Amino acid sequence: MTGPVLVIGGAGYIGSHAILALKQKGIPSVIFDNYATGNRDIAERLEVPIFDGDAAKLQDLDKAFSTYQPSSVMHFAAFANVGESVAEPRKYYGNNVANTINLLDIMLKYGTKYFIFSSTCATYGTPEGLITEATPQAPINPYGRSKLMVEQILRDYDAAYGLKSVVFRYFNAAGADPSAIVGERHDPETHLIPLAIKASTGGKELSIFGSDYPTPDGTCVRDYIHVTDIAEAHILGLQHLQRGGNSDDFNIGTGSGNSVLEVINAVERLGGRKVPVNRIGRRAGDPPYLVAGSTKLQSTLNWVPKFPKLDQIVETALRWHETDAKR
Ligand code: UFG
Repeated sequence: MTGPVLVIGGAGYIGSHAILALKQKGIPSVIFDNYATGNRDIAERLEVPIFDGDAAKLQDLDKAFSTYQPSSVMHFAAFANVGESVAEPRKYYGNNVANTINLLDIMLKYGTKYFIFSSTCATYGTPEGLITEATPQAPINPYGRSKLMVEQILRDYDAAYGLKSVVFRYFNAAGADPSAIVGERHDPETHLIPLAIKASTGGKELSIFGSDYPTPDGTCVRDYIHVTDIAEAHILGLQHLQRGGNSDDFNIGTGSGNSVLEVINAVERLGGRKVPVNRIGRRAGDPPYLVAGSTKLQSTLNWVPKFPKLDQIVETALRWHETDAKR
């Protein structure tokens, strides 16, 4: 098959950046989205075919596959809010696991060979020190477990059916493409950088969740990784499989972390506006420190991050939010 890349969740934050990256490389793609968290206006801006469909509905998947005959699939469509997954595990196992099985089964039906899967650092639970692919996976919430289950299913589907996949575990996806064509727009927003930007431009003050962690300034440390660099990794993963590479898994991190206070400081410095804050208690389920290296990704797929610095992430996020507010 020589068809396009079908991007499930292509209207979402990371999926839309993947579409942009594919387009820039001249690789044809199709967006498949049900807009549970994606945005149709952002999808339309990308000027690629759009299929309005829901991975919960086999007939939607079948129609999309029979229409476009995709050669490969990138799968971004998942719920990804840790707290919500504890309260509503059914929603998480239903969408993140059952709907992914629908998708894999349709791929087998149509002979679609390659699958690129968005997994998460939440599959590691609360490990200490720098995370690598050899770190044991021990998720502590239904969200992390739902993603780990799919990783395991993918190994079994490769062994039994020869379905080749690359799994990427993201750390904290952040920033926006410098063009500001696409960017982060969630409703409700729960992530630190957009909330800090909104607070600085007159939105609700930012709550700092916990100031008593065993970290240098008492706030949580995360590995913020630019969404455009994540999108680029997906293309390298796809090309790896197209070259006949084996199924594999990679962490996408920068190898260094930033605290909540460092992020707030960068938003204030680069945005030129104060971020009003309110220090409150810890948020349930937040590990103090989550940072991953990307040695394997760099050495195996020759991934080189273009935006490795927090300032580049915050700068592009500021540009996106300013542009999006005017639309
Ligand atoms: N934070 C605040 N105030 C806020 C929002 C966040 O202090 O209003 C803090 C959090 O406590 C955390 C850091 O900012 O320490 C980053 O929080 P985010 O919500 O932006 O991101 P998370 O680290 O919670 O989430 C990321 C991914 C999830 C993944 C999770 C695994 O977005 O998909 O890591 O822990 F599951």
